[in-house]
Amino acid sequence: MIRVENCTCGYGGDDPVLHQLSFRIAEGERVGLIGANGAGKSTIMKCMVGLLSAEGTVCIAGREVCRKELPWIRRQIGYVLQDSDNQMFMATVKQDMIFGPMNYGMSAAEAEKLAKQTLEQLGMEFLWDRQNHRLSGGEKRMAALATILTMNPRILLMDEPSLALDPGNRRRLIQVVNHLPQTKLIASHDLDLVWETCDRVLLIHDGRLAADGPTEAILQDRELLEENGLELPLCLAGVPSRTNFE
Ligand SMILES: Nc1ncnc2c1ncn2[C@@H]1O[C@H](COP(=O)(O)OP(=O)(O)OP(=O)(O)O)[C@@H](O)[C@H]1O
Ligand SMILES: [Mg+2]
Repeated sequence: MIRVENCTCGYGGDDPVLHQLSFRIAEGERVGLIGANGAGKSTIMKCMVGLLSAEGTVCIAGREVCRKELPWIRRQIGYVLQDSDNQMFMATVKQDMIFGPMNYGMSAAEAEKLAKQTLEQLGMEFLWDRQNHRLSGGEKRMAALATILTMNPRILLMDEPSLALDPGNRRRLIQVVNHLPQTKLIASHDLDLVWETCDRVLLIHDGRLAADGPTEAILQDRELLEENGLELPLCLAGVPSRTNFE
């Protein structure tokens, strides 16, 4: 469903951010994308939706990401951006949520019904008429997630989906994500969320693939995680000691 081959790309500086990155994700797989800050997680997602162009090949459901294919490719992918401020661009949550489905030909009534159902599923129906610019960080995150889920895409790319969520909303997000049948790639520093939602993990270090394997193997490998600027998920680390900064 996703094929990335020898992908090298950057933002126009001297050095590329991604170096010859290659991996494949089959239909229905649930894959976590982990790595330290600046490793290139968001960058590879931007390549998949054509926001950045890369050397090498990026294919989505058999079609190469290129200008001609972008409308089709973006129809296949629901992309939850790391920054929800870039995701919600209409005045109200409702307007944002019905925009996509109506753009793809659904009537306003159908789109509203679907959008309301998604908000209810997330326990967020009270956001329906709210102004986007008056939402808290976590509310905006949930609204952005709901907006993407309403589109029912074949592939979900989620960049830090649990960012800013309180424990209840984070738990609901995990439940909802675990019930979705789609192919998923979830970039996150919340390794406990990755532990609960993904079967396979890709570990990126400095734009290169450092490891690719089952979640149980990678997230329990303290040495591998620490070599790559990460730590064991809290659920596996036992009761964490408090850091002494003195
Ligand atoms: N718009 C940009 N212009 C120039 N450099 C950028 C831009 N966006 C990201 N970078 C650089 O690309 C590298 C990879 O960034 P990226 O956002 O992919 O990292 P990440 O793994 O998602 O990190 P984080 O965990 O902090 O979200 C970083 O060194 C970053 O500074
Ligand atoms: Mg990122």
